[in-house]
Amino acid sequence: MIYLTRRERFNSAHRLFCPELTDQENYEIYGKCSNPNWHGHNYELFVTVKGEVDAKLGYAANLSSISKIIKEQVIEKVDHKNLNLEVDFLKDMVTSTENLAISIWRELEDHIKILGVDLHCVKVVETENNYVEYYG
Ligand code: NI
Repeated sequence: MIYLTRRERFNSAHRLFCPELTDQENYEIYGKCSNPNWHGHNYELFVTVKGEVDAKLGYAANLSSISKIIKEQVIEKVDHKNLNLEVDFLKDMVTSTENLAISIWRELEDHIKILGVDLHCVKVVETENNYVEYYG
């Protein structure tokens, strides 16, 4: 079994908040991340797949195919977008890094399988100090 990782990047705006709470209550929970006027991040997305190395081809999966899937299923939907307002697969969710990783996993899983490998990990880096890894 071998693990293969592709990195992609995207820039997005968002706000952490629960709609049923007041701005003040949201501020107490999420701090400045609850700013009603949004804020942005330069996200990094690491997608790791696992599989066997094809003896003839020497790879587990074609990295350009993996990149194409990530771009079509995720990057084009989130890059330079407002995650709260413009992304169907995050609709009605708190746009936390945790929910982002779980939602991206769901967007990718079936498409990655078609390449003959399995999704192993979706890692979303929100800032240089914070990241989330989701293993399904
Ligand atoms: Ni944020």
